[in-house]
Amino acid sequence: MANNILKGKKGIIFGALNDQSIAWKVAEQAHAEGAEFVLTNAPIAMRMGEINKLAEKTGAEIIPADATSEEDLDNLITKSMEILGGKIDFVLHSIGMSPNVRKGKHYTELNYKFYAQTLDVSAESLHKTVAACYKHDAINEWGSVVALTYIAAQRIFPDYNDMADAKSLLESISRSFGYHYGIKKKVRINTVSQSPTVTTAGAGIKGFNEFINFSEKMSPLGNAPGEACADYCISLFSDYTRYVTMQNLFHDGGFSNTGVTQEVIEKFGE
Ligand SMILES: NC(=O)c1ccc[n+]([C@@H]2O[C@H](COP(=O)([O-])OP(=O)(O)OC[C@H]3O[C@@H](n4cnc5c(N)ncnc54)[C@H](O)[C@@H]3O)[C@@H](O)[C@H]2O)c1
Repeated sequence: MANNILKGKKGIIFGALNDQSIAWKVAEQAHAEGAEFVLTNAPIAMRMGEINKLAEKTGAEIIPADATSEEDLDNLITKSMEILGGKIDFVLHSIGMSPNVRKGKHYTELNYKFYAQTLDVSAESLHKTVAACYKHDAINEWGSVVALTYIAAQRIFPDYNDMADAKSLLESISRSFGYHYGIKKKVRINTVSQSPTVTTAGAGIKGFNEFINFSEKMSPLGNAPGEACADYCISLFSDYTRYVTMQNLFHDGGFSNTGVTQEVIEKFGE
């Protein structure tokens, strides 16, 4: 359904690990819509080599960057502007990782070193990325930054663990920096709160399969697939959403506003 709505736009896409990644789908869609972009991921994620296939397919260059490193981000922003021939119009932040989740630490017994890493990788990295863009005046007026989040920022989903705290911080950073960047350069910053989606990061959450089925039954439209999430991100990068900023936007088939569905309630009559 490509309509060239990103024709002439340039950007940076973080977080494409493999073809299940939401960022991978955003990159494919952005390419189909006429955008040019740089792909980036943590140097360690590059070892898998998958990203090269995406780069080839979309004509993008790859610049490795650990999104927690201010030095790497400085390099990423300056090099991207060189490669793309000027300022950029959009940034996708599609990054999440919790060592506490990975190591099976319960929320009541977190390892605080891991906790700091969760917040740094999954939330502060947005601040560092946007701050690097701000410092280098890297984003054109009406440009758009989108970060991916999850409803555990507002409501308790026990197995989401310390990632819930990271997502709350991420959403707050998007509002706070959205204010400052909006005032200074009319740059927009939003978070998209996506349905559970089968990806490497998603599958790391305990009980993910049961949860994805529950969520499917609790959403009038069903869980939103990764491809549809990509379409939504593309609309937020486009000029059709120029006055949308500092928002947490649910892309979840109606889950966030559903108390219960008939299908779920009937299970309790059994
Ligand atoms: N999958 C879901 O169910 C779901 C639901 C809502 C929101 N999200 C969010 O979507 C985003 C993308 O996740 P995904 O589901 O596509 O999984 P994914 O595993 O494909 O993507 C996560 C990415 O984060 C990158 N990353 C980790 N540490 C990094 C670092 N230090 N520097 C740079 N990059 C780093 C990984 O290399 C990977 O590419 C995450 O923010 C995730 O929390 C996912």
